Formats: sequence, C-alpha cells, structure tokens
Amino acid sequence: MYAKFLVVLLLGLATAEGNNDSTVSSTRSTVSTIQPTSPTQKTTVTPDDFPVEILRKECFIARMGLRVKESGKFWTMKKHPSFTVACESNKTMVNITLEETSFVNLKFSSDKSNYYLNSIAFKKDQSSTEYIKNELKLFSTSFNKTFKCYNQPKIELKNKNLTVDLEFKEFKFEIFKGGQAKNFSSTVNECAADKKTSNIVPIVVGAVLTGMIVIVLIAYLIGRRNNKSGYESV
Ligand SMILES: *[C@@H]1O[C@H](CO)[C@@H](O)[C@H](O)[C@H]1NC(C)=O
Ligand SMILES: *[C@@H]1O[C@H](CO)[C@@H](O)[C@H](O)[C@H]1NC(C)=O
Ligand SMILES: *[C@@H]1O[C@H](CO)[C@@H](O)[C@H](O)[C@H]1NC(C)=O
Ligand SMILES: *[C@@H]1O[C@H](CO)[C@@H](O)[C@H](O)[C@H]1NC(C)=O
Ligand SMILES: *[C@@H]1O[C@H](CO)[C@@H](O)[C@H](O)[C@H]1NC(C)=O
Ligand SMILES: *[C@@H]1O[C@H](CO)[C@@H](O)[C@H](O)[C@H]1NC(C)=O
Repeated sequence: MYAKFLVVLLLGLATAEGNNDSTVSSTRSTVSTIQPTSPTQKTTVTPDDFPVEILRKECFIARMGLRVKESGKFWTMKKHPSFTVACESNKTMVNITLEETSFVNLKFSSDKSNYYLNSIAFKKDQSSTEYIKNELKLFSTSFNKTFKCYNQPKIELKNKNLTVDLEFKEFKFEIFKGGQAKNFSSTVNECAADKKTSNIVPIVVGAVLTGMIVIVLIAYLIGRRNNKSGYESV
C-alpha cells in the first residue's frame, strides 16, 4: 500500500515535470526563487574566505571578520588576533592587528543614549601614512543593545588620491557603558540591509511549502486517474 503510494507520487512528479500545465510552471518558478536568497550566497568573498572571531575586552565585545583590500592585495584579520580596547566616557577605541604589521583603528563615539562607529583608519605599518574614513555615523544603536549587520557593503578608506576597501563579515558588536563586556545582550538592532533579508526568508519558506503541497496534490490526482485505468492490466 505504502510502496504503491510512493510509486504513484514519483509517477506524478515525473508527469508534472514534462507537463506545461500553468499550475506546474508557477510552482517551478516559486521554487527557483530560493537560489538568490540562499544564506550561503549572502557574504560573497573572493578569492578565499576569512575567519570570524570574537573580540572581547574592557567595555567592548564584537564578533566579526575583517579585511582590507588594495588592488588585489589583502590584509586580513587572522584567528585570535591581538587587539587593544580603550574605553572613555564618550568614545571607545579599538585597535586590531591584521596581517604583517598592519592594523585597523575603529573609533566609536557616543551621544547621550546612542553609540555609533565614527571613524575607521588603516595603516600598513606604524610609520606609513593612514588610510581613513572620518565623520561616519554608522551602526548607530543604544547602550545595552547589540548591533548586527551581516550585509554591510565595503567601506572605502582614503589616503590622498589612494584608496583601500575595508570589508566586514558577520559584523556584530556591543559597547557597555561603565561596565565589563560579558556577552551580547538579547536585544539586537539590525542594519536596514539585514532587515530586508530577514523578511525574505519567511516569504520564501511559505512559497516553497505552498509549492510542495501543490505538487503532492497533483501527484495524488494523477495517481487516482492512473489507478482507475491501470486495474485491468495488473
Ligand atoms: C512547454 O512550453 C515551452 C514553451 O513555452 C516549449 O518550448 C516546450 O516544448 C513545452 N514542453 C512540453 C513538454 O510541452
Ligand atoms: C567627550 O567628553 C569630553 C569630556 O569628558 C568633552 O570635552 C568632549 O567634548 C566630549 N566629546 C563629544 C564628541 O561629545
Ligand atoms: C595599534 O596597534 C599597533 C600594533 O599593532 C601599534 O603599532 C599602533 O601604534 C596602535 N595604534 C593606536 C592608535 O593605538
Ligand atoms: C546597561 O546595563 C547595565 C547592567 O547590565 C546597567 O547598569 C546600565 O545602567 C545600563 N545602561 C543603560 C544606558 O541602560
Ligand atoms: C597620486 O598622486 C601622486 C602625487 O601626489 C602621483 O605621483 C601618483 O601617480 C597618484 N596616483 C594615482 C593612482 O593617481
Ligand atoms: C553568549 O551568548 C550566546 C547567544 O547570544 C550564547 O550562545 C553563548 O553561549 C554565550 N556565551 C557565554 C560565554 O555566555
């Protein structure tokens, strides 16, 4: 009985594939929309992947990958990077060592209730000139809240007429006012780009489920039809 149902289902699916029925083609196009929103395609990194690490010190905690690119050359934050954090009343400075002698300085500033990323600077080594992006107001969030942005585009840093691109991966951070960072808070602010993708996921899941129900229904109906005509030959 069970095996028969399976055969009927497979038969139904095969028939549906070769059919130009309007229901079937709409099902197919629904299913194919999964591809561009698949989470594995969200962070496109070339030529190879770079690590995501937890950085926790003083008032600061972050989970992220970080690298800087200049015309084909990369400076990447390695596993267990060395870094320093300086917490002041209205600013937090984070200095992260990348490959070789290079480092990135992140400066977070705050007003009464919010903090935000205010500037990013990169140096290839201590004596070289600085690539910088100033007067930013990125990732603004209130104290005791985590900020998350997994879809952050590259940020361009300038050094006179030269530029490098800084790239975050799975960027999530929190600054604790007057306290030691233990773990991320349960309340999370998301950047606009992340909100968009988190809305798409339930829509896609719903569409796929609907599509599957339609396929099973078609298979069942075809199966019934085949059953009726198939009895004499068996
Ligand atoms: C389905 O329709 C397309 C054009 O819309 C046609 O090229 C194809 O041959 C058709 N397939 C079947 C199985 O009828
Ligand atoms: C930061 O605080 C200091 C005093 O603690 C003050 O002089 C300075 O203007 C403040 N900066 C900002 C950007 O609010
Ligand atoms: C950041 O750390 C590097 C060592 O990796 C050091 O040479 C540099 O002076 C530091 N910069 C700041 C602004 O603290
Ligand atoms: C943040 O949380 C700590 C306790 O974890 C609390 O002492 C502090 O007042 C809170 N700060 C704000 C701005 O809500
Ligand atoms: C940048 O400016 C310097 C002179 O200040 C020049 O020698 C160099 O070619 C310029 N580089 C680019 C990429 O335009
Ligand atoms: C920190 O919080 C995450 C979830 O937000 C949890 O998975 C992890 O175990 C926590 N780590 C510690 C050390 O409490």
